[in-house]
Amino acid sequence: MALVPLTAFSQKAKAEKFAVGQFNINNMEFIQGIIAAAEELNSPLIFGVSEGAIRYMGIDFVVAMSEVASRQVKVPMALHLDHGSSFDIVMKCIRAGFSSVMFDGSHHPFEENIRLTKQVVEAAHAAGVSVEGELGSIAGVEDDLSVDEKDAMLANPKQAIQFWQETQVDMLALAVGTAHGMYKGEPHIHFDVIQEVAANIDVPVVLHGGSGVPDESIRKAIQTGVGKINVDTENRLAFTKAVRETLAAKPAEYDARKYLGPARDAVKEVVMQKMKLFGSVGKA
Ligand code: 13P
Repeated sequence: MALVPLTAFSQKAKAEKFAVGQFNINNMEFIQGIIAAAEELNSPLIFGVSEGAIRYMGIDFVVAMSEVASRQVKVPMALHLDHGSSFDIVMKCIRAGFSSVMFDGSHHPFEENIRLTKQVVEAAHAAGVSVEGELGSIAGVEDDLSVDEKDAMLANPKQAIQFWQETQVDMLALAVGTAHGMYKGEPHIHFDVIQEVAANIDVPVVLHGGSGVPDESIRKAIQTGVGKINVDTENRLAFTKAVRETLAAKPAEYDARKYLGPARDAVKEVVMQKMKLFGSVGKA
């Protein structure tokens, strides 16, 4: 199947109350682990690619590998820019073949975020590419993006509704108490904010910082209106743990396939668990 925009499954996710996972990719093993899980569970999926991951792999490798991946599965799959910081990077991704982009204007004043996001939506929609916007600021570190806990700011529901009405983004990320990276304690998620916004906009809410959130909170977030959940850190941890374990057990190993293979399987395992939790199994 060709790469699809988020709109290929966003309305179904909202109507049937499930969430599609965005899994960030870093190399071929992540890509293969993620698509193997999606295909086995007949689940839609989203590859998330940060600007840091684009610098690491090169944009042409990202698109070429993702296109090959999408052709190998029967499930709908989006290639999505994660936390795009400028109009330029968004346009670069669209030209290169991404099917979806996030423009994160959340650090700008509200009116400026609306103005910039609208420009992105206009250009992206003309190319058949979907757009995720963001309101409020999510704590933690995600590649280039680092927000101190004291600077994290919850999304204001009234502003979020106005933001969606004016920008017409296809999905809306809200800062509701989750953070990028693992948690020291339990995250305090503001389900009331999700609920109020989701009830008043036509598109799903996006939950960032999906790693380490208790299952019960994920289920509740989906019930209140979340239709896309981003997961990165848990896959990185599983991948690295598998590499460490293999090399600890066989210190003389030097065939990369022998330690990257188990790491790929570990990513598949995490993604399968998340797809089951998110309710996206069988929803392709
Ligand atoms: P985690 O690394 O906490 O899973 O967050 C991923 C994310 O939100 C990417 O945008």
